[in-house]
Amino acid sequence: MNKLIDLHSHVLWGVDDGSRSINESVDMCALAEDSGTGTLFLTPHLMYWDRAEELFDIRNEKTEYLKEVLADNDIELDLKTGFEILCDDDIFLTKYFNPYTLCGSKYILIEFDFFKTTLEDVLSWCSYLQSFGLVPIIAHPERYRFMLLDGKCVDVLSDKGILFQINAGSPAGMFGDTTAEFALKMIKGGFVDFIGSDAHDIRARNTDMAFCFDNYPYEADNGFLYRASYLNPLKVIQNEDVTVQRLSYFSDL
Ligand SMILES: [Fe+2]
Repeated sequence: MNKLIDLHSHVLWGVDDGSRSINESVDMCALAEDSGTGTLFLTPHLMYWDRAEELFDIRNEKTEYLKEVLADNDIELDLKTGFEILCDDDIFLTKYFNPYTLCGSKYILIEFDFFKTTLEDVLSWCSYLQSFGLVPIIAHPERYRFMLLDGKCVDVLSDKGILFQINAGSPAGMFGDTTAEFALKMIKGGFVDFIGSDAHDIRARNTDMAFCFDNYPYEADNGFLYRASYLNPLKVIQNEDVTVQRLSYFSDL
């Protein structure tokens, strides 16, 4: 079996609410390797555009250092860079997104406020990003209130060419029953384009995606894992079009 590609993590230490030390980062990388992940995207939260350039430099410096430490410790994990961009209306002040995409590709990983965000907000932010030729990937759609309240949002966003990345732990119940149920529906309908660990630490929210997969209920197994945890992330790395395979409308499930 191919090694997994984890599209979303907070493994870099001291840049957000993820890893708190270089030692924890190394432990998270070792756990990723031990559990079958071959490639890990480092995607710190980017929350303030006036800090973006500074964060870009810090991320790159720390990534290079982490690569050296992994090599010294014989940890075979290919590190890729990106950000998880918190969208709000400040995004309209920015016109240059290339440094902030996933490893320099056209794909950009985005998140929003879990409670206040509306479908109209997301459509306007994504439309703006798409006007630069970017392809938005919504991180953990199963965790936003507006999505949970109205599943039709999945269909509307999907019809606009927007992609979805669920958290590996969601279908296994890591974020509660409602989120698990929504994530499982997304899997059933073919709406899961990517899976990421969204790992924040070495404890509960860690880098072991395979453990989560082992805890999915039977109905989660419709062959999407290969596409979401290997094939499509590989397409991101290669900056090629991903394979989108919707099986029904979400609102019909
Ligand atoms: Fe995240």
